[in-house]
Amino acid sequence: MFTGTLPFSATSRPYIALAPMEGLMDGTFRELLTAIGGIDHCVTEFIRVTHQVYPEKVFYRFAPELKNGGCTRAGTPVHIQLLGSHPELLARNAAKAAKLGAPAIDLNFGCPAKTVNRSQGGAVLLQYPDLLNQIATEVRKAVPSHIPVSAKMRLGFKDKSLAVENAQALAEGGIQWLTVHARTKLEGYKPPAWWSWINTIRMKVKIPVLANGEIWTPQQAHQCQHESGSDLLMIGRGLVATPDLGLRIKNPDHTPMTLQQNLALLKTLAQSLPDLTDKQLTDRLKQWLHYYSMHSAEMQNVFDRVKKERSREGFFAVLQSPIPF
Ligand SMILES: Cc1cc2nc3c(=O)[nH]c(=O)nc-3n(C[C@H](O)[C@H](O)[C@H](O)COP(=O)(O)O)c2cc1C
Repeated sequence: MFTGTLPFSATSRPYIALAPMEGLMDGTFRELLTAIGGIDHCVTEFIRVTHQVYPEKVFYRFAPELKNGGCTRAGTPVHIQLLGSHPELLARNAAKAAKLGAPAIDLNFGCPAKTVNRSQGGAVLLQYPDLLNQIATEVRKAVPSHIPVSAKMRLGFKDKSLAVENAQALAEGGIQWLTVHARTKLEGYKPPAWWSWINTIRMKVKIPVLANGEIWTPQQAHQCQHESGSDLLMIGRGLVATPDLGLRIKNPDHTPMTLQQNLALLKTLAQSLPDLTDKQLTDRLKQWLHYYSMHSAEMQNVFDRVKKERSREGFFAVLQSPIPF
C-alpha cells in the first residue's frame, strides 16, 4: 500500500516531466534543462538489469543527483529508471536505488532497441501482461511504501491489442502512475503519436496517466491534453529542440529564448564536459544540434556549418563567427 504523496498533487498544470533518453539525457543535460525551468521531474536513462544487483557506483553514474538528495541543483526530482524482465532482480535493484535516495522508481516497457529486446527488456515485454504485473508487484513490494513506483509503456509491441490489458496489469501490480508513449514498438518514432489512445487507457485505469509522444510546440501540448484528457505530460525530443518549451507551455507570456541564448547553452554544455575527447564532445554537441535544428531553420543553418568540425576549437570558432541570416 502506497503511503507517500504523488508529485502531481501540489504543482501547477500542465505538469511536465522530462523524458528519459538513453545516450542523451544524462546528469549534465538534466542540470542545464532544469535550470531553465518548466520541468517538474526527470527520469534517468534506463539502467539495464540482467544478472546482478548493481553496486552503488552504477546508480551514481546514471543519477549523480542522488548525491544531491535525488534532485538537480534546480531542485527538480530525478526518478531512476530500470529496464529488465526478471521481477526479483528488478525488485532488488529498485530497493537499492530507493535506499540511495531515489525519489521514485520507473520501470521501462517501451524501449524498442533490438539489443535490449533480445535480452528481454523494454517493449518486447508488452506481449506478456502477466509478466508486467509480476514485475510491478515485486518492485512495489520491495520499495519502501512512501516511494512511488511508476512505469512507462508504449501502446504495444506489434499492434495495440494489449494496450489496455497491459496498463491494467501494471496498475493492478500497484504502481502509482503510468506514462504512455502513444505508439507501438513497430511504429518506432514515426508520427503521429496516437494521443486519443492515452484517453482510452486513462478511462480504464484508476491511476494518473502521463501522455507522451510528439509534443514539440505549445500548440501540440494543448492538443495532446485535449485528445488524451490528461494534463500530465512527458516530453523528450521537444525539450531538447526547444529547451524553454516547458516554460512556453506553462506560461503563454514567456519570452522565448533567442538563438544566441540557445548557442550559449551549447557552450555551457561543452564547459560541463571537460573530460571528453574532442570527438566525443563534438559528437555530443552535434547530437543536440540535430534535435535543435529539426524545428528551427536558424539552427539548421548552424548545424550545417559545424557538421564537419571534429575539434573543440574548430566547433566554437565556427559558432563565434557571425551567423549569416
Ligand atoms: C535518443 C532516445 C533515447 C531514449 N531512451 C529512452 C530510455 O532510456 N527510456 C525510455 O523509457 N524511453 C526512452 N526513449 C523514449 C522517450 O522517452 C520518449 O518516450 C520518446 O522520445 C517520445 O517522446 P518525445 O516525442 O517527446 O521525444 C528514448 C528516445 C530517444 C529519442
